[in-house]
Amino acid sequence: MRRNDLIELDREHLVHPVSSWADHEAAGATVFESGRGLYLRDSEGVEHLDAFAGLWCVNVGYGQDSVAEAMAEQARRLPYMTGYFGHSNEPAIRLAAKLAELTPGDLNHIYFCLSGSDAVDGAVRLATYYWRMKGEPQRRHMIAQRYGYHGASSTGSGLTALAAFHRGFDMPLPTQHHIDAPYAYRHRTGRAQDIIADCVASLRGKVAELGADTVAAFFCEPVIGSGGVIVPPKGWLKAMEETCRELGILFVVDEVITGFGRTGAMFACEHEDVRPDMMTMAKGLTSGYSPMGALAISDRIYASIRDLTPAGTAIGHGTTYSAHPVSAAAGVEVIRLYEEGGILANAKAVGPYFAERLASLGDHPLVGDVRCIGLLAAIEIVADKRTREKFPAARRVGRMVAAAARENRIMIRAFDDGIVGLAPALVITRDEVDMLVSRLRNMLDLVQSRMGEHDEAE
Ligand SMILES: Cc1ncc(COP(=O)(O)O)c(C=O)c1O
Repeated sequence: MRRNDLIELDREHLVHPVSSWADHEAAGATVFESGRGLYLRDSEGVEHLDAFAGLWCVNVGYGQDSVAEAMAEQARRLPYMTGYFGHSNEPAIRLAAKLAELTPGDLNHIYFCLSGSDAVDGAVRLATYYWRMKGEPQRRHMIAQRYGYHGASSTGSGLTALAAFHRGFDMPLPTQHHIDAPYAYRHRTGRAQDIIADCVASLRGKVAELGADTVAAFFCEPVIGSGGVIVPPKGWLKAMEETCRELGILFVVDEVITGFGRTGAMFACEHEDVRPDMMTMAKGLTSGYSPMGALAISDRIYASIRDLTPAGTAIGHGTTYSAHPVSAAAGVEVIRLYEEGGILANAKAVGPYFAERLASLGDHPLVGDVRCIGLLAAIEIVADKRTREKFPAARRVGRMVAAAARENRIMIRAFDDGIVGLAPALVITRDEVDMLVSRLRNMLDLVQSRMGEHDEAE
């Protein structure tokens, strides 16, 4: 089919996630045709350097034939098997066992689902169910963080703290609350111990306000992703875990972005020896080759739910595609590539160089902050480096950045408020880091010159 026909059909029939439908119809789609390593080719034959791993998910890079082959082989042999009725399948069993081995603490029980939103939804439902079974049904409140993102399901979107996911959707629910985030660049002192103390006080304060025996769980991302890649100071995650333990509420860690090598460890929890009650995963689990999410459940929570549910009574959580064999086959092979294929080792080795080279952009007049952990980073663009003031929303800096990135053939995440998110595939080389940083500088220069033209025209 011709390129223009495809764009026209897309405009007429394909509804795009988290987009202005009117803007999308006006702009039309960019259709992509193929990918290899970090590079994507669009239908005009233009090659883009993908510095965002699709949507922070294609951690093994594009074109890994062994993953495609594992999926094809599974699809030929057994494309589908339900997990209902006690039925199971080999790749899902192997993947569950592997995740039990890799995840921190005693997260030994894995529920497979379709996405990160679906995993969060499972965590919300099972946290609610757990407290019911424990005889504490009044524990219905759930606390998450400002700037946090936990997906777009009909309950998870209320744990998400981003306005677009609430506006017009009647969210958050009265049982969903948000506390301070560890945002060093915008904190009153920026000192690690103050940031941690403020977050702990914010959690304690919220629990006290709601009543300690009414709170079910605290949800957090080890590094806030979609809220602007907010890298917390070392010790913050541990402090939140300890506070949850002390307050007697469940500690749920959302590793949908941070999992599978993104921060330089298999899971970000490892950096601080944190052991959540439940952990959500998706994205890097299959590297986007096939949709899959997972919820890991600790021995304690699993055993309570198992033992407190009367025998013969179904625990009503599950979907048709839970533990899908083709996605599971992708996951098994992707994890093999992280471990035996040297991809995690590469992420660890290149991470410090990535951080060092990105830091060199700090001298750019538009750059207020550069923050990085592993191969996850943000550049925060500001109107005034001294006061840290952002550009007014009317300047639509995010849109300008997105256009300048496209013109420099790099794919980044241009958040509306001028934050640039970066999460390249973990196979990135030092040469590719150099190429990326040079294109990022050109992108920033282009935005700056357009800002100047705009100011002159006013
Ligand atoms: C931390 C976090 N949780 C949950 C989700 C939702 O995942 P999905 O888009 O696969 O539903 C995302 C997606 O970006 C995420 O970053």
